[in-house]
Amino acid sequence: MSGTVLLTGATGYIASHTWLALWAAGFDVVGVDDFSNSSPEVLHRLQRLGDRACVFERADVCDGAAMRSLFTRHAIDAVVHFAAFKAVGESCAKPLAYYRNNIGGLISVAEAMGASGCKTLVFSSSATVYGVPEVLPIPESAALATTSPYGATKLIGENLLTDLGHADPSWRIALLRYFNPVGAHDSGLIGEDPRGTPNNLMPYITQVAVGKRERLQVFGGDYDTPDGTGVRDYIHVSDLAGGHVAALRHLMHPSGRSFTANLGTGRGHSVLELVRAFEQASGCHILYDIVARRPGDVASCYADPSRARQLLGWQASRDIAAMCADSWRWQQSNPNGYND
Ligand code: UFG
Repeated sequence: MSGTVLLTGATGYIASHTWLALWAAGFDVVGVDDFSNSSPEVLHRLQRLGDRACVFERADVCDGAAMRSLFTRHAIDAVVHFAAFKAVGESCAKPLAYYRNNIGGLISVAEAMGASGCKTLVFSSSATVYGVPEVLPIPESAALATTSPYGATKLIGENLLTDLGHADPSWRIALLRYFNPVGAHDSGLIGEDPRGTPNNLMPYITQVAVGKRERLQVFGGDYDTPDGTGVRDYIHVSDLAGGHVAALRHLMHPSGRSFTANLGTGRGHSVLELVRAFEQASGCHILYDIVARRPGDVASCYADPSRARQLLGWQASRDIAAMCADSWRWQQSNPNGYND
């Protein structure tokens, strides 16, 4: 399959892996990012891995004129809109910044798309739209709810795009609900590079392993789960990247239609299971303390991934051993992320 795909938030964690997967699948890519939460070094790494030049523009997705200008200067066939703020806790402290960036950015990208006649869009949504899951594993038909301003921006984004598709059925829109992406490209050249103290479990574990942090705090040991710690559906970021390629293939096929799909493995692992798998993969001992629950966390969250398998022919293939090995390779070769 061929065509040119615009990636917003292109130098971020999931987008950079998707960029490589799109190249490998035969697509051309135009990337846009404002580096508000990523590094230009990503572009050098991608060029090395793909042995080709990155087509990239620095811009803020909330800048409507910049977005319109992109579409006049590049022949774009489809867009994957990754650009968004994503820290749950920060969103509670700065709701306006989250609504402005996540909703404002989506609107300016969709308006620029509509004006140029490009109406094929993949939207980065999140399992957070399920709130406290009513059923496990979670099918796409489960009730939707929000538990943070971040989650609200994802649910509003989904609703906005669903309304757009109703108003103009020539749009083809995929709403992809990611579970917990971890891991890194197996080269160790690109990976997750959080700024400051990591919010998420895997980068925290890898930073303990390289000695940047002393001990992991395990948030809650009294959940109704097999070992009392939270259970999540960890998915290798390269599998997730492949899910975007499959989604684009589906949308760009002559008979393609809009859809919503979970991107997860369907398997849940507890915090302590992930710690043990990481210790095995790395040979490092991870010191941890079990502390109070983190406000807003749910006990268990894992996907029913069958719709993506049936509709897109896509399923995740890498297990948590591979996720841990690849996260470790990335962290070990880049102890300070892209600043090394
Ligand atoms: N955890 C710890 N210690 C840490 C960090 C996390 O014990 O230092 C635990 C959490 O309590 C949870 C599990 O590890 O049980 C996973 O936590 P993450 O922060 O890595 O992931 P979440 O499932 O909380 O959050 C992810 C995304 C959010 C999204 C949410 C719901 O990061 O963007 O899933 O879909 F909103």
